[in-house]
Order: sequence, then C-alpha cells, then structure tokens
Amino acid sequence: MKSIAFLLVAAYIGLSAALAASHAAAPGAAPGTASGAASGTPPSAAVVAASGAAPVTAPASTAQAKQPAKPDLVKGEASFTAVCVACHAADGNSAIAANPKLSQQHQLQEYKSGQRNNAIMKGFASALSDADMKNIAYWVASKPVKPGFAKDKELVALGERIYRGGIADRQVPACAGCHSPSGAGIPSQYPRLGGQHAEYTATQLTYFRDGVRKNNLQMTQVAAKLNDREIKAVSDYIAGLR
Ligand code: HEC
Ligand code: HEC
Repeated sequence: MKSIAFLLVAAYIGLSAALAASHAAAPGAAPGTASGAASGTPPSAAVVAASGAAPVTAPASTAQAKQPAKPDLVKGEASFTAVCVACHAADGNSAIAANPKLSQQHQLQEYKSGQRNNAIMKGFASALSDADMKNIAYWVASKPVKPGFAKDKELVALGERIYRGGIADRQVPACAGCHSPSGAGIPSQYPRLGGQHAEYTATQLTYFRDGVRKNNLQMTQVAAKLNDREIKAVSDYIAGLR
C-alpha cells in the first residue's frame, strides 16, 4: 500500500513538471499560465525527460509545426514518459495484469468526467487538458500492441465460441461483431481487445456486469448475461487474439 501511495505521489510530481515544461515550451501558450505553472516546479528528471524526448520523434514534429491543431507526439511522449510509464510501461504495453495495455485506446476524458469511475485514473486524467490527452493518446496509438497468449487450454475453446459466435440461447452477441474478428476493434468506436491481459479484461467485464463501470450501455447489456466461467474463458481467449 505504501509503495502504491509513493508511486502516485511520484507520478503526480512528474506529471505537473512535464506539463509545465511542455506548456512553457509551446510558442503559442498564454504567458501567464506558462510561467505560473513553471515557477512552482523545480527542475527534475521529468523536465529532462521532456526535453530529451524531442530528437527521438523529430520526424513527426516537422509536419506538425505548420498545423498547431494536430496532436503533438513529442509532448505526448514527454507527458507519458514522465507519469504513465510507472504503471503502463514505456510503450504502453504494461506487463502488469491489473494495468491495461494501452495501444489505440483513450478513455481519459471519461475518467476525468467521472463517466468511467476509477480512483487511480481519475487523478491522472484530471490533471490533463484536452490537448494533453490528445497528444498522449496519439502517441500511445503510434506504439504497436505486444501480443499476449491464452493460458487456459480447457477454457479457450469456450472463449473462442463466445467471441466468434456469442451465446445464441441467451442472446449474447458475438464480440467479434463489434470488436472485429482479430480483436483490433474499430478504434474510434470499439476498442481494441486483442492481446490485452486476461485479468484486466475479466475485471472490466465483471465491472460492467456488476454496475461498477457504467459508461457504456452496450457493454453492460453484453456482460449482464455472462457468468464468471464465461468471462474467464472469453478473457483468456482475447489475450491470445491477434
Ligand atoms: C498508479 C498506476 C497508474 C498510472 C501512473 C497511470 N495509470 Fe492508467 N490505468 C491504471 C489502472 C489500474 C487502470 C485500469 C482502471 C480501470 O479499471 O478502469 C488504468 C487505465 C487506463 C486507461 C484505460 C484503458 C482502457 O483499456 O480502457 C487509459 C487510457 C490510461 N490508463 C491511461 C493513462 C495515462 C495516459 C496515464 C498518464 C497520464 C496513466 N494512465 C497513468 C493505472 C495507472
Ligand atoms: C454492440 C457492440 C459490442 C459488442 C457486441 C461487444 N462489445 Fe465490448 N465494447 C463495445 C464498446 C462500444 C466498448 C467501449 C466502451 C467504453 O466506451 O468504455 C466496449 C468495451 C469493451 C471492453 C473494455 C475495454 C477496455 O479496454 O476497457 C471489453 C473488455 C469488452 N468490450 C469486451 C467484450 C466482449 C468479451 C464481448 C463479447 C462477449 C463484447 N465486448 C461485445 C461494444 C461492443
């Protein structure tokens, strides 16, 4: 518990430092906000990370310079590296089963507004502006998802049946119908599932079913009809999907 609290505090400090640095560096930023945010922030590893990140992704910034409305991948990487990395790993492919692999997903707005209720992510998302979220989401989406593996030989066949065909007699629709046969989803509408940690997927399905996660009616209805064994099976199958 102690170490989680420390991680949270450390990540918050990193986040404010990185955001202050990237705002201060933005040519178009309002002078008041930039200096105000930067003045309270001592130089730190996060600031170094923010400036050090620039050359690595330089090709992306040349196109961006002309169109300020486009996402800034350099800033996205800097913010991500300063904070999110602690739980989601350097490229968004967390190795910890409770922390989702992030590629091609952004739910930050939902955490910030409270539509999707999670104590850990609410704090981080609330510290981000719309532009920060966009930058981070686009940067994360540029990183490929690391494939995973199904682990439970007995359940995986049941999982595949549910994913591909649903459960007809209980009107559970096929997951593939929305999330696509490969699990890649349609990023703007249906999130990628393929390769995700089975534990995380199972937790989210249980959250939808039990009304803990209430931000999507379609998924609440799907999960409402699944029992624990079916959730385990389909989650395990999804982990190996690519
Ligand atoms: C202390 C650990 C921790 C840190 C730091 C952290 N996250 Fe998370 N993140 C989590 C956990 C745990 C979840 C799953 C929460 C849930 O069940 O809704 C999550 C979920 C997410 C999701 C939803 C993924 C999905 O598949 O729907 C996104 C997006 C996300 N985080 C992005 C970020 C970004 C961007 C940052 C940095 C600004 C960040 N996280 C920092 C632990 C963390
Ligand atoms: C009618 C379309 C539809 C069907 C069918 C469907 N889903 Fe979804 N699913 C969605 C949408 C839309 C979301 C995004 C919800 C949100 O905004 O948080 C989602 C989100 C999810 C998530 C959360 C992903 C994350 O990263 O947090 C999981 C897990 C999931 N679906 C699993 C399944 C499984 C398993 C099935 C089959 C039993 C299934 N879905 C069937 C539309 C669908």
